[in-house]
Amino acid sequence: MLSVLLLLGGLAPALPAGPHWTYEGPHGQQHWHEGHPECGGRAQSPIDIGTARAQPDPSLPPLQLEGYEHPESPGLTLANNGHTGERRGENRGVPGAPALLTPCPTAVLALPPSLRLRGLPHTFTAVQLHFHWGRPGHAAGAEHLLDGHRAPAEMHVVHFDSERFSDASAAQQQPGGLAVLGVLLEVGDDPHPAYDNILRHLGSISYAGQTVAIPSFSIQELLPAHLDRYYRYNGSLTTPPCFQSVLWTLFPQPVRISRAQLEQLQGSLYSTEEAEPDEPQLLVDNFRAPQELNQRLVLSSFPREPEGYSTGEVIAIIFGAVAGCVGLFLAVYFGTKRMRARRAQAQDVVFKASSRRSPLDTGHPR
Ligand SMILES: *[C@@H]1O[C@H](CO)[C@@H](O)[C@H](O)[C@H]1NC(C)=O
Repeated sequence: MLSVLLLLGGLAPALPAGPHWTYEGPHGQQHWHEGHPECGGRAQSPIDIGTARAQPDPSLPPLQLEGYEHPESPGLTLANNGHTGERRGENRGVPGAPALLTPCPTAVLALPPSLRLRGLPHTFTAVQLHFHWGRPGHAAGAEHLLDGHRAPAEMHVVHFDSERFSDASAAQQQPGGLAVLGVLLEVGDDPHPAYDNILRHLGSISYAGQTVAIPSFSIQELLPAHLDRYYRYNGSLTTPPCFQSVLWTLFPQPVRISRAQLEQLQGSLYSTEEAEPDEPQLLVDNFRAPQELNQRLVLSSFPREPEGYSTGEVIAIIFGAVAGCVGLFLAVYFGTKRMRARRAQAQDVVFKASSRRSPLDTGHPR
């Protein structure tokens, strides 16, 4: 879907839409490579990151965001990029809206080029951000996994290398042409005010193809606090045409939204257009299965936990050892006591037996 959305904001000439695809069914992910060969490549995204196997790389710098706090744009365009026109096998643009040329289901927020990302080999310019989620009542909807755990949702902030390329459309087909920040969304106790800037408008774009202008706000507040802690690997767009052009940054620290906010994301959008005669279809489960890592490295910008013992584990080990010692002491103590008691009893028996035996002894010849 990244590729599609790159075209938001009139950035680029139209790409051919390519064959129709969905997440499930006869055009589902198992078949993406048939119409989009790169989807069968060896450097695909998303992946399941094994945190113990990620290789710490102290040379990875903290990411620097420029212009994220005050986007230079009075309003931002939020769009429901459902499967526009797909049922008729055509790709109509949304009249009067940014070009959404390939159908690709998500909520997408166009970002002005005043947002810049540094800390990568080149300077990157923001294009858009969008979401992946599950379905109401299900806890899983993120694309990247951490040690097999799938968070409820994930946000992607898409950028292109604006030093080497004039626009995202040209950049997306070249290695390292795109940089995407992946933010995992977990459920917490409180609503997240920055996410509310987006989520409260979803009701205005229920149907595929609808857009709404929303007030500008700090995009930085959508990101986790620790921009110096991330995983880095080389991967792809997570939707057809799956170009292997993305420098991925995934933050291990999730951002917490409330359950009600997650439900807003899961339950507000239809993947169908308002004019369609059929029953509206909820836009849900727009996440791709994890892909093979193959020979790729996953780097981490932070060191591994020392020998894998966390503070909690160290405390558990100390408690365990103390409990073990106490147990051993008690065992030895009671064991000794019982042994002494038995020995005393045995002596008693011997004594009694010998005193009983004495008269008998006398009755037998020696
Ligand atoms: C990604 O690929 C580039 C070359 O295309 C390479 O220099 C870089 O080390 C790779 N990054 C990772 C994390 O493997």
